[in-house]
Amino acid sequence: MGGFSPNANLILVGFMGVGKSSLGRQIAENWSRPFLDTDKIIQEKTSCTIPEIFARHGEAFFRRLEQKCVDEWLPKEGAVISTGGGILTSPGMTEKLQQLGVVFVLRASPQTIYERTKNCGSRPLLHTGEDAIAHIKKMLAEREPAYAKAGIQIRTDFRPICELASTVSRIFCRETATNGA
Ligand code: S3P
Repeated sequence: MGGFSPNANLILVGFMGVGKSSLGRQIAENWSRPFLDTDKIIQEKTSCTIPEIFARHGEAFFRRLEQKCVDEWLPKEGAVISTGGGILTSPGMTEKLQQLGVVFVLRASPQTIYERTKNCGSRPLLHTGEDAIAHIKKMLAEREPAYAKAGIQIRTDFRPICELASTVSRIFCRETATNGA
């Protein structure tokens, strides 16, 4: 990382339910920047919901849409961007996102993720019922290597959004400071 201007994109990645959208929206509002979400862009471009895309075309098709989104539909700078939790599973995606902006990886425990996602039926890859937390743990473990190397790590459990927003803003400013000296 490094070499970014203060107008660089701020990019949030991390598992479902870690708080990417809430935090992204807050930072975008604080900075008067546009807030973009790869899932929302894909839904707008295809006029389909995420569950519909998964049901009709499968996960591989959805990953190709995520790649197209990153390659063609996202701005090169000036935005706060939240991404779908599985975006890093596509080969080469980590490097692409790192070129597109300063990447923050949000983290939360399986229990927190479960609590935040259990009442939301719009995530086709999550399980409901008794094995829900075990399934989250398994997916987290599979994705761990990608999350670990993607960017600046931020824990979100039990931290208010305003505090997280100021922590991330401070780090972003540090990362993009043009060192005039
Ligand atoms: C997914 C996460 C979802 C969405 C899709 C797949 C994943 O986004 O992209 O359901 O593979 O983790 P959120 O992380 O915003 O829930």
